[in-house]
Amino acid sequence: MIVCVCHRVSDRDIRRQAQACSSFDELQVETGVSTACGRCGDCAQAVFHEARHGGLPRTAIAILECRAAPQLAA
Ligand code: FES
Repeated sequence: MIVCVCHRVSDRDIRRQAQACSSFDELQVETGVSTACGRCGDCAQAVFHEARHGGLPRTAIAILECRAAPQLAA
């Protein structure tokens, strides 16, 4: 799924880059995710957290569910 519409960054892109990036800031430099409108920030951070640490906190799951629907319609 596309997480960042502004920079066309998918959850796969984030997962792949998460192995090479030690922080979310570094991911932003590498991909541009969440550096334009910022609407993808919560979702991008949740995917990054999942890729780096495994599993998702409950709040992150809720964010993904809430944010996925509008982006899929875009
Ligand atoms: S959707 Fe990611 S910066 Fe706009």
